[in-house]
Amino acid sequence: FLLIFLVIIMKVLAIETSCDETAAAVVENGQKVLSNVIASQIDLHALTGGVVPEVAAREHVLNMIPVLEESLKIANCEWEDIDILAVTKGPGLVSSLIIGTETANVISYLKDIPLVPVHHIAGHLYSSWMDIEDSQPEFPILILTVSGGHNELVLMRDHYDFEVLGETLDDAAGEAFDKVARMLGLGYPGGPAIAKKAVNGNASCFDFPRVMMEKDSLNFSFSGLKTAVMNEVRNYAKKRDLEDVKKFDEEFVCDLSASFQEAVVDTLSGKLMRALERFPSVKEIHLVGGVSANIRLREKIEEVRPNRLVFRFPNSIRYCTDNAAMIGAAGYFAYMKNPENYSSKTNIIPSTEFSIMS
Ligand code: KG4
Ligand code: ZN
Repeated sequence: FLLIFLVIIMKVLAIETSCDETAAAVVENGQKVLSNVIASQIDLHALTGGVVPEVAAREHVLNMIPVLEESLKIANCEWEDIDILAVTKGPGLVSSLIIGTETANVISYLKDIPLVPVHHIAGHLYSSWMDIEDSQPEFPILILTVSGGHNELVLMRDHYDFEVLGETLDDAAGEAFDKVARMLGLGYPGGPAIAKKAVNGNASCFDFPRVMMEKDSLNFSFSGLKTAVMNEVRNYAKKRDLEDVKKFDEEFVCDLSASFQEAVVDTLSGKLMRALERFPSVKEIHLVGGVSANIRLREKIEEVRPNRLVFRFPNSIRYCTDNAAMIGAAGYFAYMKNPENYSSKTNIIPSTEFSIMS
């Protein structure tokens, strides 16, 4: 006799505008990415060496609708095909977030599609779930999320069941990459630029601090490292009477980049191992967020992790840095857990302070 399986396909259209990327994506059942469109403002913010909130917000206004239309077109979808909307509610720049939430509020109301507010970090936590071809992730999962704006260790016990074990008390690792890159005149964003210089540098040239905090702390602190690097750069420039970073020796820039990167990598991987000791039942470790694009960090975790654990990071560099597909993935799993919580009558207001699970 015939067994008929009914597979319900749910398509989520997601919007993310928390910082300087206007992004929209269509994701099927939380894991299959049908489109992932990003209008980046990197060139614009490179001029100022960082993001100017008002400039970012104005760009979001210009890009939002074209990006949305493109994401539907690439996914080969009409509005009628969309079952759920998801949008980043925060944290982020409020003037940027509001462009995304207002757009989502209006579409949800007009098209009568339930709207799910998503915490930006919850999005990153699901970025390692997309386009997986082999076996599915198994809980509990220990996640290290490292970005420009945030830096956390999270225990994920089930879908949308997160416990934040530790976070940065000052700068996030990505922010440190960006600031060091700025000191060296390497431009914005700093992570990829430092990583590139580090390839040709000697990682043990400078002995930078690995701030591990108290014995059982899972929090992070990168401001001391940033200051140590800054002092080294100042000493170098002063000794040679160099005011213009462009005149810095290539060898110095490469060695400093490599030594700084190694200090960050040691600290992050060290904390990850410390968390593993505390939660031995963990089955997988995931590395997510903009800094998860860093090859040396991936290598190091691969080196130090116990072999019994599955190690995953986002399947594409485009899922490491900010994107809307991850917001769609998180939005889908939030919705599936409590569908009754969401409707097309909600009005989402951006917030920088709300729970990662809401
Ligand atoms: O997740 P993301 O796009 O934005 C935030 O939510 O903050 O992360 C951006 C951060 C930037 O600080 C950037 O310098 C860093 O990720 N990043 C990297 C690399 N690629 C991006 N850091 C180190 N190595 C990389 N290859
Ligand atoms: Zn992010």
